[in-house]
Amino acid sequence: MPAIPVSDVDLYTPEARTDPYAIYAELRDLGPVVHLARYDLYALPRYQEVRAALMDWRTFSSARGVFVDPGMNAQLEGITLCSDPPEHTALRSVLGRPLRQDRMRDVTPTIEAEAERIVAELVGRGRFDAATELAEHLPLAVVSDLVGLPDRGRAKMLEWAAAMWDMQGPADERFTSAAPVVEEFMEYVTHDAVPGRIRPDGWAAHLHRAAADGELPPEKCPALMLDYVTPSLDTTILAITNAIALFAAHPDQWDLLRADRSLIPHAINESLRLETPVPQFSRVLTEDHEIDGVGLPAGSRVALLYGSANRDERHYPGPETFDITRRPSDHLAFGRGEHVCVGMHLARLEMGTLLDRLADRVSRFETLASTPMINNGLRGLAHLDVVVRTDETADAARPA
Ligand code: HEM
Repeated sequence: MPAIPVSDVDLYTPEARTDPYAIYAELRDLGPVVHLARYDLYALPRYQEVRAALMDWRTFSSARGVFVDPGMNAQLEGITLCSDPPEHTALRSVLGRPLRQDRMRDVTPTIEAEAERIVAELVGRGRFDAATELAEHLPLAVVSDLVGLPDRGRAKMLEWAAAMWDMQGPADERFTSAAPVVEEFMEYVTHDAVPGRIRPDGWAAHLHRAAADGELPPEKCPALMLDYVTPSLDTTILAITNAIALFAAHPDQWDLLRADRSLIPHAINESLRLETPVPQFSRVLTEDHEIDGVGLPAGSRVALLYGSANRDERHYPGPETFDITRRPSDHLAFGRGEHVCVGMHLARLEMGTLLDRLADRVSRFETLASTPMINNGLRGLAHLDVVVRTDETADAARPA
């Protein structure tokens, strides 16, 4: 049996968090599975193996956590993200109820109205931060309302969520400074976000109602709230910001989208493929397992590198090219299989509505400056300073 290639690359330096793509290419070249010696993790950097692992939860289990640090994995055992069927199936059916595709009808009018309002205001101004002023708006104005936490919780959601994501990496400095913030968040979901204080028609209240109806053990409610709060904001904010940055860099693709709005769903997939906001989760092997002729022992923690798989040249020809006509609906930015992102319909709705409203008004985005977000579980831009041109400004600039 061939030996497993070993690499001592560090995926958690600020440089690697900003631009991991050269490292990913190196790992893909090394083989279908690579031992990351620094963190005693086996990484799957290629598309086919990541996808196969996602579709085989019996072998690639989430029940022992999907993060890097053993303490964090032990602490979050039992949330939806970190469980296997049949427990996972029961939790997900409750958690996913307000996020089902057919429930998006309820939130569409608010999302459309807020998208129209924010796009009109920012485009009117001509220059804005596409991360903090545009991309944050819908998730903060709409989604934090849908979760329904009391005011203090709403104001803190972004800070708490970012800390939770930071604790998904190894126990480095970012992890350590996030720990007290996560502790505050856990206190809050256990003692403050309780019936009587949360919005009675929100997602948080829905969990407590399901517990009262016997669908969930009541002691699960605080932990399940993490499944709503942690992934519902930054992921989408980064995805929207990444898409704007890509369209600023590739104006020909923006022209295509403006000329044919049916390309919007494909543009969403292509931007998620190319700039994947959640670059990895992990699994633990429940039995000895062979990957492409390489044997891994039961109990190994295996990192599924979604960000690398989405740029695998074995699967996507010319993977570095942003091409909204590519139609890569099989990308892995939302995962696949049992744990495929339960919020993806909401994320797509938010992204699609914003792109549509922007396409009504903006003829060009120009990036003035950008700042990367350095976080152990997420990747993208914390700031994206852009100037936009509209058809009117373009006409005015043209010689008479
Ligand atoms: C563009 C935005 C988003 C991205 C890129 C994203 C990414 C992901 C990924 C990769 C997974 C798979 C986890 C795994 O493989 O173990 C996942 C699961 C999940 N996502 Fe999202 N997500 C996004 C938006 C959202 C939103 C808006 C919500 C709303 C609440 C959400 C809630 C969840 C939950 C609860 C899970 C766990 C599902 C399960 O374990 O069955 N996500 N997401």
